Amino acid sequence: MHTTHSIRSAYLEFFKKQNHVVVPSALLFPENDPTTLFTGSGMQPMIQYLLGSAHPLGTRIADSQKSFRAQDIEEVGDNRHTTFFEMLGNWSFGDYFKAEQIQWMFSFLTDELGLDPRRLYFTCYSGNESLGIPRDTQAAGLWQAQLKAKGIDAPIAEDAETKGMQGARIFYYGDKKNWWSRAGVPSNMPVGEPGGPDTEMFWDFGEQLQLHENSQWSAEPCHVNCDCGRFVEIGNNVFMAYRKTESGFELLPKPNVDFGGGLERLAAAVNDNPDVFTIDLFTGLRQKIEQLTNTVYGQHSEQTKAYRIVCDHLRAATFLIGDGVIPSNTDRGYVVRRLLRRAVRYADMLGVPQGVFADLAQSIITTYAEAYPNLSEKRESITEEIAREEKKFRETLQKGMKEFEKLATQNISGRDAFVLFSTYGFPLELTQELAAEKNLSVDAVEFAKEMEKHQDLSRTASAGKFKGGLADHSEKTTMLHTCTHLMLAALRKYLGNDVHQAGSNITEERTRFDFTYPKKVEPEIVRKVEEYVNEAISKKCTVSIEVMDKADAQAQGVEGSFWEKYPDKVNVYSAKAPDGTVYTRELCGGPHVTNTENIKGTFKIVKEEACSAGVRRVKGVLQ
Ligand code: ALA
Repeated sequence: MHTTHSIRSAYLEFFKKQNHVVVPSALLFPENDPTTLFTGSGMQPMIQYLLGSAHPLGTRIADSQKSFRAQDIEEVGDNRHTTFFEMLGNWSFGDYFKAEQIQWMFSFLTDELGLDPRRLYFTCYSGNESLGIPRDTQAAGLWQAQLKAKGIDAPIAEDAETKGMQGARIFYYGDKKNWWSRAGVPSNMPVGEPGGPDTEMFWDFGEQLQLHENSQWSAEPCHVNCDCGRFVEIGNNVFMAYRKTESGFELLPKPNVDFGGGLERLAAAVNDNPDVFTIDLFTGLRQKIEQLTNTVYGQHSEQTKAYRIVCDHLRAATFLIGDGVIPSNTDRGYVVRRLLRRAVRYADMLGVPQGVFADLAQSIITTYAEAYPNLSEKRESITEEIAREEKKFRETLQKGMKEFEKLATQNISGRDAFVLFSTYGFPLELTQELAAEKNLSVDAVEFAKEMEKHQDLSRTASAGKFKGGLADHSEKTTMLHTCTHLMLAALRKYLGNDVHQAGSNITEERTRFDFTYPKKVEPEIVRKVEEYVNEAISKKCTVSIEVMDKADAQAQGVEGSFWEKYPDKVNVYSAKAPDGTVYTRELCGGPHVTNTENIKGTFKIVKEEACSAGVRRVKGVLQ
């Protein structure tokens, strides 16, 4: 019988056999993409390879990527939503395509995991004439052939939203369901964004359905993509072959496969229990809560919801803190704070004694000891951080609840919501949830205005924190990103090895770069730095990426900051001239130009100024 850990291993082994190189999970947040706070899918760290850059480990890659979707926080509480999850992934970077992917997936699900093919359903893209993208009859035919080999007839249907199952096993859906890009449907995609038709795989929990409290199935015609919970998506094969242009879509240089499969949901399918919170990864934590509260999971629906929220939020917070996100009032830190505070509230509802969050986190770390040893390595700091946050919140929670009760005789103004936030530590969402329980509203617009007024406060809170990255992955921004690496190498050459990056923010117009240095940089050094960058540009350096053991990279003096935030394997970017001179060698997530001859213009530093104590800021442009 499979455990969740053994499903992960079986998957990675399976793809190793198909000549894939297995890579470790990237961090839970992207390094160079300020447009998204968290890594929400396995493809995010792979974006540049999907767009055509060569991956140093080849054209077939597989992994299990830690993922976090903050937008799902409110969804948690039903049987299948979690904010943190692992996404099993395999990629073809212009290598194999539909035929191989569908055959392997079918074999993995049925032969390796032993799932009954009679309980599998599939969806394919119905096509979009106005975009000139055809219906994916090939994918549908490939699934049909796989099923047929198992003796299963697989009729194909469409319009399932209105007509229901129609006795079919394969269904066509449109842009909303069977087109995938980071931005969703084709019309939402920014120019340059890759995407494509996908084919999704569903597990039918069938008779188990009566266990699922949110079901509407008995009352309404059901289809695989409805929300009743009978069918759960266990994986998505994206045939990423297109890129958005000004006028429509063009084919990418090579078609890619991007597969993403929810590990927890696959485990639920293997267990044939539609409640993902019953999988073994949650057992330790669940039992601990059962002991502490003298309740039994799954007995009362309100309690069940609270259990799920506590389990999900604590697990997510543990992983996020493990990757270096510390609870705070801004950005990512705010999300962790929100998770922990929400968990406190629901833990209280269950009667969990105060002050045990650190113990609960211990149990999560133990569950993941083998799969994610970085959690064990940071056991102490993670549990301390969680304990501190719990304590802090509890100190104000009681007072805040009293204040809230006083205010909650009418709809809550933004100003009052802000007082609850700033004085009592109530995240806006908490006030909104409490208000909703009383059928009251909260003025979120006014709250935002109040928040702005107090920006100075949050600015202080975020000072010194790594900020920024690339505004986009356009050509110009990418050129300036490579220039930024060259500039840092030059700064270190002329100012010494204590110079490190303290932050960066790169747009199409300029690179803004903060680095550690205690005093003004003399103009003549600034000129030398510019010369260094321009020399590297004129020498047509090849920019290459190598994947190295973190320890080796550190030992070899590769430049990088925040080492502790990186996984054991790191990407190192170098620019090397044909004469062998290496102009930069730095830890990074890309993207970069492939050769410095692609950098158009002359690099110039237009500003050098103090940023904060011990940190200087420069602005550089290409002229
Ligand atoms: N990138 C695809 C997803 O996240 C696989 O669903």
